[in-house]
Amino acid sequence: MGPLFWIILCIFGALLAALIVYGILCLIEPHRHELTHITLSCGRMTKGDKFLLSNGKEVFRALPAPGKGDQGHDLRIFFFSDLHIETCFISSGKILRHIEEEHERSPLDAVIFGGDIITWPKYKDKGFSYLKEISDLCRKLSIPFLAVTGNHDIELDDKETEERCGFELIEGRYKILKNPSGREFAIAGVNDSGREDREWYEMPECPADLPLIFLAHDPDSILHTGIRLPDIMLSGHTHGGQLKLPFGIRISPRHKNELPSAGILAGTFIYENTLFFISRGLGCGYLPIRFGSVPEVSVIEIRIPSDSGN
Ligand SMILES: [Fe+2]
Repeated sequence: MGPLFWIILCIFGALLAALIVYGILCLIEPHRHELTHITLSCGRMTKGDKFLLSNGKEVFRALPAPGKGDQGHDLRIFFFSDLHIETCFISSGKILRHIEEEHERSPLDAVIFGGDIITWPKYKDKGFSYLKEISDLCRKLSIPFLAVTGNHDIELDDKETEERCGFELIEGRYKILKNPSGREFAIAGVNDSGREDREWYEMPECPADLPLIFLAHDPDSILHTGIRLPDIMLSGHTHGGQLKLPFGIRISPRHKNELPSAGILAGTFIYENTLFFISRGLGCGYLPIRFGSVPEVSVIEIRIPSDSGN
């Protein structure tokens, strides 16, 4: 055999080994998770990388403004999204522990779930039990537990979901959250219309004089809020890209959406005067694999000075 044969064999072997290592890493990552601490401080964050949307609008990565230090917070929220119970390897016990510890450190004003309990409806019982454990703890600690559903939850019955998960769905309506000093905030949610025949729901009408937080499973909802933009939006859906391939190759169908198409997949961003956060979520969509996007739950400290507004 000539040297060319051995060169080709070596290249093929190296590629195969790289593929095997990559495959193993993809199976490991869904079992890890991070508790991230996020700050959304209106009017006090600076613009980082720019992302251009197809309609010409600009979105910027939101970064802490240098030299501002800890500004304190008005609301402290525990936020998680995209459970996808069939492919979630993070036990409910770990989430309960995070909530207890964080509430003890500094009281939480709300626990919020951003949708996608399941991928397939036949696993709904398992998803409901997981969330019920969290709502039981919230009830014990007197923390409101609010939620919206995601595009995968479209076949679930809202009434049954709400009753069996123990959270309060805020789809198409708003709720008032009061912080320990008595200041009020409106938090409004929207339903998700699923993937086929996509329909966008506008944000429900909320008191104009209150700071406004918008909860939407799909971050593209920020482009369809109606006449008013919120101060803050919390969302999930993208799974942070879930599977990042070398050379920036994208395979997820989520990338068809407007924001992900522009490279907006996870983290904190600025759109006009709105600060928004996209969680990487907990579970996986369809296949139990992730790479470059570790599952995430977050404690979000929100600050909306009374002089800030849209
Ligand atoms: Fe999802």
